[in-house]
Amino acid sequence: MAVYRTLVVLAILSSCLAEKYKDGAKVEVYVNKVGPYFNPHETYHYYQLPVCRPQKIEHKSLSLGEVLDGDRMAKSLYDIRFKKNISPAQELCKTTLSEADLAQLKEAIEDLYYFEFVLDNIPVRGFLGHLEEGGFLPHNHKVQLWTNIHFNIQYNGDQIIYANISTKEHEPVNLDDAVAPFEIRFTYSVKWHPTKLKYSDRDKLVKGTSFFPKTLEIHWLSIINSLVLVFLLLGFVVIILTRVLKNDFARYNTDDED
Ligand SMILES: *[C@@H]1O[C@H](CO)[C@@H](O)[C@H](O)[C@H]1NC(C)=O
Repeated sequence: MAVYRTLVVLAILSSCLAEKYKDGAKVEVYVNKVGPYFNPHETYHYYQLPVCRPQKIEHKSLSLGEVLDGDRMAKSLYDIRFKKNISPAQELCKTTLSEADLAQLKEAIEDLYYFEFVLDNIPVRGFLGHLEEGGFLPHNHKVQLWTNIHFNIQYNGDQIIYANISTKEHEPVNLDDAVAPFEIRFTYSVKWHPTKLKYSDRDKLVKGTSFFPKTLEIHWLSIINSLVLVFLLLGFVVIILTRVLKNDFARYNTDDED
């Protein structure tokens, strides 16, 4: 029990501890998980995808809460320095995709995979690719991969207050006609925004931006779904009962006449 309590206190302390950066100090970006957007409980490690990765993968030691959350953080190749903008986009790596890599990426994009990085304890999320819907009959779509990640980071003094990423600054790469070996170049850019918001506002900011679909809507859908089922079943029961009763009445009447 005492061990558990110390763990909880440590977890709370470490989450309250604000990291302070000197200008130009390295801001570590950890890659975390990827998974289908509509099933946030199904997650894989980011480096299971054929993406830019360091020669030696270094995992971050995780807190208890993070382990329970299914986090698997590892260092990334992004070289982000406090208050240093990167623009135009800089190369992250060049990689050559094999047939299997291409198939894996395409499948992930078709399943609407998102990815999650962690920057100064802030989770930032984006989509791996983009599906452009084509004709209706026959149904087809273009599978496109985002190759640039743009980081927006808000800072106040020597602290990071908020961060997000966007992928839409650059045109995606079309994977439909890609033939292995397919060379691809990943890039990134960074913009630092000064803000007056305080470190204490951070929880609100991070929680306020919802990336996942609202669970409330899902609840409504399932409630309506169950209601429809209940009415259908009730309908069947009523139909069967009336038939049986009708038969019984008919028999009763004929019995009477006898
Ligand atoms: C991301 O952050 C930037 C700068 O802080 C902000 O202007 C933008 O609206 C944010 N985008 C989203 C999708 O929250």
